[in-house]
This record gives sequence, structure tokens and C-alpha cells, in this order.
Amino acid sequence: MINIRHKLNDALLIHGGHIGYGTRPKERMKGYNKINLYLGLIKCKNLGIKKALLTAYDDNIGSVKTILDFDGVLKTR
Ligand SMILES: CC(C)(COP(=O)(O)OP(=O)(O)OC[C@H]1O[C@@H](n2cnc3c(N)ncnc32)[C@H](O)[C@@H]1OP(=O)(O)O)[C@@H](O)C(=O)NCCC(=O)NCCS
Repeated sequence: MINIRHKLNDALLIHGGHIGYGTRPKERMKGYNKINLYLGLIKCKNLGIKKALLTAYDDNIGSVKTILDFDGVLKTR
């Protein structure tokens, strides 16, 4: 599953960002989220989103690794 938010509001700037994703528990760690984000970033580009914001808790290793797989720049707050 992937959700793409075309525009950010104040809440999404803090939690949520442009993209939310999830993989069915039984299918995790098979590379599906990497495919998901790859396709999602193409969609964002086509929507005119030049820089996509993704947010993740730092203990969500699968999400953080997916972001880093696409050269995401981590910022902590
Ligand atoms: C986060 C989530 C989407 C990852 O989905 P996934 O399909 O398992 O991800 P992938 O298989 O594409 O893995 C991407 C990378 O993360 C790693 N990874 C995934 N889950 C991991 C885990 N629990 N522990 C360690 N590494 C993990 C994979 O090994 C892979 O690493 P690599 O780039 O070195 O090969 C999935 O765990 C999920 O749906 N979580 C619940 C919802 C959620 O947290 N959404 C994100 C909110 S920010």
C-alpha cells in the first residue's frame, strides 16, 4: 500500500509527509516496499513534487532503510 499526499499541511509536515506506505505483515522483508517507493517517487515527480518528505520513527528500521535505499537524507528532530 502506498498513499501519496499531493500537498502538505502543517500536520503532515510534522508527521506523515508526502508518502505513507505499508506491506502486509506476511510479505515483509521481500523487497516489496522498495518497489513501492520506487514507483511512488516516480508518481511524485509526475505530480511536480521536487522533494518528497517521508517521516519515520527512528526505530522503524524497515522504513528508515527503504528511505536510505533511495538516497534519502535523514534529519532528526
Ligand atoms: C516499513 C515497511 C513498509 C517495510 O516494508 P518491507 O516490504 O518489509 O520492506 P522491504 O522488504 O522493501 O525492505 C527494505 C529494506 O528494509 C529492510 N527491512 C525491512 N524490514 C526490516 C526489519 N524489520 N528489520 C530490519 N530491516 C528491515 C530490508 O531488509 C531492506 O533492506 P536492504 O535495503 O538492505 O535490502 C513494513 O515493515 C511495514 O508495513 N510496516 C508497518 C507500517 C509502517 O511502519 N509504515 C511506515 C510508516 S513510516
